[in-house]
Amino acid sequence: MTDRVLIFDTTLRDGEQSPGATMTHAEKLEIASMLDDMGVDIIEAGFPIASEGDFAAVSAIAKASRNATICGLSRANFKDIDRCWEAVKHAAKPRIHTFIGTSPLHRAIPNLTMDQMADRIHDCVTHARNLCGDVQWSSMDATRTEWDFLKRTVEIAIKAGATTINIPDTVGYTAPVESADLIRRLIAECDGADGVIFATHCHNDLGMATANALAAVEGGARQIECTINGLGERAGNTALEEVVMALKVRADIMPFHSRVDTRKIMAISRRVATVSGFPVQFNKAIVGKNAFAHESGIHQDGMLKNAETFEIMRPTDVGLTETSLVMGKHSGRAALRAKLAELGYEMADNQLADVFVRFKELADRKKEVFEEDLVALMRQNDAVE
Ligand code: KIV
Ligand code: ZN
Repeated sequence: MTDRVLIFDTTLRDGEQSPGATMTHAEKLEIASMLDDMGVDIIEAGFPIASEGDFAAVSAIAKASRNATICGLSRANFKDIDRCWEAVKHAAKPRIHTFIGTSPLHRAIPNLTMDQMADRIHDCVTHARNLCGDVQWSSMDATRTEWDFLKRTVEIAIKAGATTINIPDTVGYTAPVESADLIRRLIAECDGADGVIFATHCHNDLGMATANALAAVEGGARQIECTINGLGERAGNTALEEVVMALKVRADIMPFHSRVDTRKIMAISRRVATVSGFPVQFNKAIVGKNAFAHESGIHQDGMLKNAETFEIMRPTDVGLTETSLVMGKHSGRAALRAKLAELGYEMADNQLADVFVRFKELADRKKEVFEEDLVALMRQNDAVE
């Protein structure tokens, strides 16, 4: 089995489904172009039947695509699939993604028996495959679907011509050990499994989406579905930046790799935050404002001596220029000395001791001491002397 993991980004489809995250046509084109540039393998550009606007966006993204496969989502019915094909067919590499909810709760909605659903899957995947050589099947809510029926749906989809089989954890219910086992067992027991790629699509309701996606890769999945900043319905989807950086930083125990240029992560994270209107939480892994920031004296001192003491990745790996040493009440002398030196003030120990006392007084009053505060402090100091 290959060690290459395909990155399938669904920021523009599942991400945009977050209430309030709607993006304009131009914004979607811009994000798609950034995703293509950074080496994402498959871009799920939207849900073409959902609206005229979605159809237009998916078509435009398909036309503008360069390297990535462009995928559209469709429910398991011919009308959706045809509409999806009309939008993605302009891409050099188009994909139709079709799905139905297979768990008992989801089967009850269209009120289909297992046999009726099995027929529907067969017919829809066959229809999609007659239009497009690249077809993805998803058994929605797979992780709450009975094993025998899940296996049956996967085998039908493979036999009907699906090239990728996605096993979604639609409600973020699964745990890492189950996520790995489920994929491993499907690959071992489903007829035709060796001829398709298994995908993992995790939601973050219990905060386990990244762990579940990586566990699925351990189990044999070779496509991770994810979004920038983990944008997505409810608690969101697996965050692209987290899985990609985890694979890079822990290649020692997870010997899999993606094609993503990680140095482009920060730029797209910021852009997605702006256009979706969903700010990134300060302590978000990889892309949060504090992910490469240090305030405590012990940490800052360590960082000044050797960055590896408190950082497992370099800021440049994700497109930042440098670590930020935040000056606040927890900062120590070493960081103050370094910061003042950056501002052009070289200090003898006795001078620094004095300034340090006044810096601490200021830091107690302010949450963060900015460079301009330090310059003002030094001016006062010069005046006193
Ligand atoms: O979460 C989910 O199950 C989905 C499917 C449509 C793949 O987004
Ligand atoms: Zn989803």
